[in-house]
Amino acid sequence: MQTTAPTASRHLRAGMVGFGMIFDETYRPFFEAAFRLPLFSPETGPVHVALSAAASRTGTRAERYRQSASGKTISPFRNFAGPDAIGELLAAGVDAVCVATPDDRHFEAARAALTAGKHVLIEKPSVLDLTQLDALTRLAETHGVLAKVVYHKLADPDHKKLRTLVADGVLHHVNNGYCSLLEPKSISSGQFAEWIVGRNPATYVAVHYLKLIDFTFGPDWSLDRVSATGQRGLVGPAGGPTWDSVQLQLVYRHPDQREAAFDIHTSWVTPDNFPGYVEQEVQFRFDNAVWSAHQRKRGVELTVENRTPGELKNTPNYHYNSTFLEPWGERSQRGYGVEVIERFFKEVAFVEFGGPPDQKPDRLKRMRALTYNDLSADRNCVAVVQALEAILRRAADGIPGCVVRVNGPQGGLTLFEPGNASPLVLYPGRV
Ligand SMILES: NC(=O)c1ccc[n+]([C@@H]2O[C@H](COP(=O)([O-])OP(=O)(O)OC[C@H]3O[C@@H](n4cnc5c(N)ncnc54)[C@H](O)[C@@H]3O)[C@@H](O)[C@H]2O)c1
Repeated sequence: MQTTAPTASRHLRAGMVGFGMIFDETYRPFFEAAFRLPLFSPETGPVHVALSAAASRTGTRAERYRQSASGKTISPFRNFAGPDAIGELLAAGVDAVCVATPDDRHFEAARAALTAGKHVLIEKPSVLDLTQLDALTRLAETHGVLAKVVYHKLADPDHKKLRTLVADGVLHHVNNGYCSLLEPKSISSGQFAEWIVGRNPATYVAVHYLKLIDFTFGPDWSLDRVSATGQRGLVGPAGGPTWDSVQLQLVYRHPDQREAAFDIHTSWVTPDNFPGYVEQEVQFRFDNAVWSAHQRKRGVELTVENRTPGELKNTPNYHYNSTFLEPWGERSQRGYGVEVIERFFKEVAFVEFGGPPDQKPDRLKRMRALTYNDLSADRNCVAVVQALEAILRRAADGIPGCVVRVNGPQGGLTLFEPGNASPLVLYPGRV
């Protein structure tokens, strides 16, 4: 690998679009850590990363945080709000933009940032259909920047080990499995109430498992079909377009023509006093093995009078993200949820500063080849999301039981209604 002498003044200015729950959980701890210490790699030397601008709908949370933290625990940053906030953020001078708006508002923000020639990191799900994905990957290519998506579960040590065992041939030929992720009611009734109409919990969280399955067991297989059903009546009216819970099934075909099927159950109406807040488990069955994992029952069980299970959790997942007193005396907030954001900035730093300017295209190519987070490798996940949304929309319109076929003779994504032989083409190109 080409190395250059470290210089003292390598800086990346970050823009944050969306300043809600996930900013507070993962981006804030990353930017606060980066305020204290530069990123470092042998190729780049120290690189200072600073949050320099934020854009959100009302700007209220960002302003409250700016007043209390700016210049103390985080770099001074500008705060923009309202309909022109993203344009103002881009004009303020940033090198990379993180998009953490609600999932149906990622595309416009990411498109504006890529068009302005900024590196982009988008929260999962990256976008809701393949036409949008095509547009963003083209823009990243044209402007010579990175376009990446956050799937932090790939950095969970348990999932890394799962993939390692698959890659090493210890777990042989996955056949089927289930994944379940249940969010508390407070998510759908409080935090997300502003944008939840017409939305569903699968697009929001099943994508974690779509990527885990696709990345861990692929790429030598093909996605074949998608089906889904769900329940309504708690978050919105029973006949309306807003879903309480969703059961999604996807089927892949291995090169030997054997099928593999996965069921992913999601909800955002679990009781708020559920002991672990978010309930997550998976099971994958292979020709020679079974892998079962529970993301919160990892060994810690805690009960504190008057504090669990609300403020503190009975079975916490400290691996994702938590605050710690380190053995060497420092206070920190870390975990794989924060690590994956840091990793994106290291990739940007490598592209910008990891060698001579004339070799930047090679560095860009190398970082784009990382299929765990590159937008160009998000096709199967976005295809499932597009299929799922179309199936749920049909069900809300009174036609339940649709199936979407992938890469069939009539198109990349074709939706079949029960009893109707003519499919609706959702995406004509190949997935
Ligand atoms: N990686 C994870 O596990 C994880 C967890 C939670 C959320 N997320 C993702 O992060 C994204 C945001 O989720 P959240 O929980 O932070 O939501 P949230 O509702 O708490 O916050 C959304 C933020 O976006 C802003 N916003 C809304 N519309 C906007 C617009 N048009 N322009 C600019 N800002 C706008 C709001 O003002 C708010 O600051 C979603 O895509 C979600 O899927 C990821």
